[in-house]
Amino acid sequence: MRIIAVYPGSFDPPTNGHLDIIERSSRMFARVVVAVALNIRKNVLFPPAERVRMLRRLTRRWGNVEVDSFRGLLVDYARGREARVLVRGLRAISDFEYEFQMAHMNKKLAPEIDTVMLMTGEQHSYISSNIVKEIAMFGGKIDDLVPPVVRDLVFNKMKGAKGK
Ligand code: COA
Repeated sequence: MRIIAVYPGSFDPPTNGHLDIIERSSRMFARVVVAVALNIRKNVLFPPAERVRMLRRLTRRWGNVEVDSFRGLLVDYARGREARVLVRGLRAISDFEYEFQMAHMNKKLAPEIDTVMLMTGEQHSYISSNIVKEIAMFGGKIDDLVPPVVRDLVFNKMKGAKGK
């Protein structure tokens, strides 16, 4: 069976932890659609088009990975893409409650779609996009947390923001 999986998130910005999940999912599923959520309750640094552009650049080495964005309910988007699986990364126990609730709610909304949780690689388990942004804001090193292209874009954005 050729299973299509959707890996949703805000990706503001994409981190090494996200890429770890994308790479491993690309080996498990026929097609992985990385889906940038447009309607999120978060203050974002990068507009959606920039997050999509970054992810496309970072994932072009995997032939079965595609990057898209979506608005509205995740399950509606997944259905439109004929996906049978939603992929989420679990970093620590603290992620579990939120992911558990989301997985059950999505299952209730779309019983034919399953959520597959992947344990985030140990070395990435403490990364979050907000922590990356906070470290960068105070001039700290983020080289081990994000790919070089993302590091440069984050620092450029910060410089732009400070210049205003
Ligand atoms: N490595 C490193 N960091 C990771 C990670 C990994 N493998 N997986 C998640 N994270 C981090 C993210 O960077 C993010 O950090 P931040 O909070 O500092 O920004 C945090 O964990 C969680 O973000 P993310 O995985 O992007 O999820 P989200 O909570 O921002 O997005 C959606 C959740 C978009 C999937 C969800 O809100 C959604 O489906 N929305 C659509 C509307 C809908 O259908 N709602 C009903 C849901 S039941």
